[in-house]
Amino acid sequence: MTTTTIIVELGERSYPIHIGPGLLDRAGELIAPAMRGNRALVVTDDRVAPLYLERVERSLVAAGVTPMHTVLPAGEKTKDFGHLQSLLDAMLEARTERGVMVVALGGGVIGDLTGFAAAILLRGVDFVQIPTTLLSQVDSSVGGKTGINTRHGKNLIGAFHQPRLVLADIDTLDTLDRRQVLAGYAEVVKYGLIDDAPFFGWLETNAARLIDGDLDARRHAVAVSCRAKARIVAADEREGGVRALLNLGHTFGHALEAETGFSDEMLHGEAVAIGMVMAFRLSARLGLAAPDDAGRLVRHLDALGLPSGLPGRREWDVDRLLSHMQGDKKVKDGKVTFVLARGIGQSFLTRDVPEAELAALLAEMARESAP
Ligand code: GLY
Repeated sequence: MTTTTIIVELGERSYPIHIGPGLLDRAGELIAPAMRGNRALVVTDDRVAPLYLERVERSLVAAGVTPMHTVLPAGEKTKDFGHLQSLLDAMLEARTERGVMVVALGGGVIGDLTGFAAAILLRGVDFVQIPTTLLSQVDSSVGGKTGINTRHGKNLIGAFHQPRLVLADIDTLDTLDRRQVLAGYAEVVKYGLIDDAPFFGWLETNAARLIDGDLDARRHAVAVSCRAKARIVAADEREGGVRALLNLGHTFGHALEAETGFSDEMLHGEAVAIGMVMAFRLSARLGLAAPDDAGRLVRHLDALGLPSGLPGRREWDVDRLLSHMQGDKKVKDGKVTFVLARGIGQSFLTRDVPEAELAALLAEMARESAP
C-alpha cells in the first residue's frame, strides 16, 4: 500500500505529513533529510516504548542517525509542569543542541508535552511527530499546538511550534483498544461536520470497517482529516479565526471532561462526541439547523457505540457545566465562542448564544441521562 503525503503549507516552515502502513520502519530514512546533525532524542512513554521504540531506533541507526531516548509514564497526568521539567533536564543532560532532532513517539500527551519542551528548549529546537493513536494522527500531531495542563485547566500553558514532519503509521492503530479507537474517531467525524458533508456520508457507510481495522478505510479517513486540518492551519495558524472551527464540540466537551476530573470516566474523544451532539442540538433549538441533522449525528454515533448524550452514571449539574464553559480558553470579553452549524458540513463561529437556551439544552440532556 502506498504512502499518502500531505503538505502543511506554512512558507519556509512547511512540512509533510506522511500517512500509511509500515512507516515506523522508514522513520530514519524519512527523518534524516530534515536533520541538521546526526543525533536524535526519541521521547515516548512506557506503554508505547515496548511496542515501537526499538523499531524506530533501528531505522534511525540504519539511516546513519545516533538515537537516544527518554521514556515517561503513560497517561494524561504526564502532561504537567513536573514532567516538563524532567523532560527538559533529560534533554539538557543529553546535551541537546539545536542540531539534535527531538522525536515524539506516542499519543497526544507525548506529542503535546514533547512539542512544548522542543518549543522552549534553547528558544526552539526541531522536532518530529510520530503519532501512534487515531486521535493524535488526525488532530493533535498536526498544526503545532503544544502545551501542558495545570490545575486551572487543560492546555492553558503552551506554544505554537510546528514539527518538521509528521509520520502517521496506521499500523500502530492495531494496538489500541476499541474504546481508544472510537474516541479518536470522534475527531474524524468532526471534519465531516465542519465543512465536508460528503465525507460524513462516506463515514456513515465505512466507519464500521474503519473501526474494525480496515487499512484502506483508515488511511483514507486519516488522510481526509489531515488534509482538512492542514488547509485550516495554513489559513489561520494561530487561531485568529477559522482555526477555531476545529473546536467543534470542544467547549462542551471540555466542560464534561472538567466535571469528570479529566479521568478515564470520560475520554477526550467521548466528551467531544457528546459535545458535537450538543452543538447540533443547540443549533436546532436556535432554529439554525434542521433537528434531523442532530438526529443523523446521534444515529451515527449510536451505531458505533460512541456516547451521544450525557451518561446516566452521575447527576449532571447544569450550573457547574456552564461555569466550566466560562473557564474555557476560548472565552473573550466574558463571552464564550461556540461552533454551531446550519447543517452537516456547514459549521460557523458565533459568540451570540443566549445563555437561557444553552442552560435549557443542558437541563434537557441532564434529564434524558437520568438513570
Ligand atoms: N485541536 C485543535 C487545533 O489544533 O486547532
